[in-house]
Formats: sequence, C-alpha cells, structure tokens
Amino acid sequence: MNPLNHVAIIMDGNGRWGLKNKNSRNAGHKAGLNTVEKIIKETIKNNIKFLTLYAFSTENWKRPKKEIKFLFNLLENFLKDKIEDLNKQKIRLKIIGKKNFSSQLNSLLIKSEKKTSKNKRLQINLALNYGAKTELINAFKELKKNKENINEKNLKKYLETKNIPDPDLLIRTGNTKRLSNFLLWQVAYSEIFFEKKLWPDFNERDYTKMIKKFRSIKRNFGKI
Ligand code: IPE
Ligand code: IPE
Ligand code: MG
Repeated sequence: MNPLNHVAIIMDGNGRWGLKNKNSRNAGHKAGLNTVEKIIKETIKNNIKFLTLYAFSTENWKRPKKEIKFLFNLLENFLKDKIEDLNKQKIRLKIIGKKNFSSQLNSLLIKSEKKTSKNKRLQINLALNYGAKTELINAFKELKKNKENINEKNLKKYLETKNIPDPDLLIRTGNTKRLSNFLLWQVAYSEIFFEKKLWPDFNERDYTKMIKKFRSIKRNFGKI
C-alpha cells in the first residue's frame, strides 16, 4: 500500500457549475467552498499531512475584475469565519504564491499563517496568485544571487514548497486534462487523477475512491 502524505488539488469547474445551476459563475465559487470543507474533513480522516489547494493562479488575473473581486471577498470572509475553527482542529495554513493583494487581505493572510503555524495535524497550502513558472524563475534568480550551484537540493530551498514533500496524488476536477501552471516541478512523480465532475459536485466518496485507487498503484520512480 502506498503511503499518502500529500494531496494536491486543482479545484476546477466552479464557474461552469454556477452557470448551469444558478445562472451565475460566482454562485459556483460559493458552492465550491462547501466542497473545500468536505475535502478537508476527509483528508484529516485519512491522516494525510499535506493538502495543497489551487485557488487562484497567476493567469487568473486575466478574468473580469468583478469575478476577481468576488473571489477575494469570498476568501476573506471564509478566513474570518473559519480560522478559529481551523486552528482548533490543529490545521496549519500556509499561503503559496505572492501575497500582493489589498493590504487588508495580505495582513489577514499573514495573521492566519502565524496563528496556525505550530499546528501539526494537517497543513493546508493555499495556492493564491501562484504560478509554477514564476516560482521556478524566482528560485533560479535566488541561486544566481547567492552564487550557489544549480542542483536539485539547492533549487528546492527556494521553491514556495520548501520543507513540503512533493504531492503523491494530484487531482484535477472539472473534466479538463491539463496542469494550468500548477506545481510543475513538484508533480514530476505524482499520480494524476482527472475527474469529470465539476468541483462543487465532487464529494467525500469520490475522494475516498481515488485515495483507495492511489494506494494500490505500483509506483516505480524509474525502478522496476
Ligand atoms: C476554478 O473554477 C476556480 C478558479 C479558477 C478560481 P473556474 O472558475 O475555473 O471554473 P470553470 O473552469 O470556469 O468552470
Ligand atoms: C486552474 O483553473 C486554476 C485554479 C483552479 C485556481 P483554470 O480554470 O484557471 O485553468 P484554465 O485556464 O482552464 O487552464
Ligand atoms: Mg476553470
């Protein structure tokens, strides 16, 4: 049985779900939050230590201003509402991606990270304004600046995910088979599951099934 320490998820399909069910993309983003809560619970049940959630990419700035504003309001309210509870559940929150939002949101994010920094039950890495290409370019710039050798060990020190093991399992919902600039370095050996369901329709049972399937896969890492 494969150990499972880290699950990464591209939570895709909110907009389509919202349009189909409520005639509004934003309603889909709101509905997607319920799935986030379900998946967090199930992750803890399965004793998985790291969960990385792709919430906003560096490319998502190309969306209409109104949708972007809605998304960040939703995030702000979610955090204000839930951070105490997450902390009580011994969940650590870490943001990956550059925090260049409103000063109000930036400080809420920093505060939430600080508050939960000692928690050990589950670490949630929330990918916000995250893009793998930017992450890698920044890492190479750091290597150059510090005149360090270019090798795997040195490069890893400058990734957003330093000290976090690579994802064992990567899930993308929303019936699309692409990575959309997510963790390109870190998923080199991840098992990738593409799910047809839109994120708000994805549930604990779908997740548990994937985990079960993952456990039984023969992972070679180049060996036989
Ligand atoms: C993913 O859902 C969430 C974000 C990118 C913020 P989408 O908003 O991309 O949903 P679809 O793919 O348009 O349905
Ligand atoms: C990927 O979804 C980003 C997140 C889920 C946050 P997108 O919907 O932005 O991806 P593309 O643009 O369809 O590739
Ligand atoms: Mg999408």
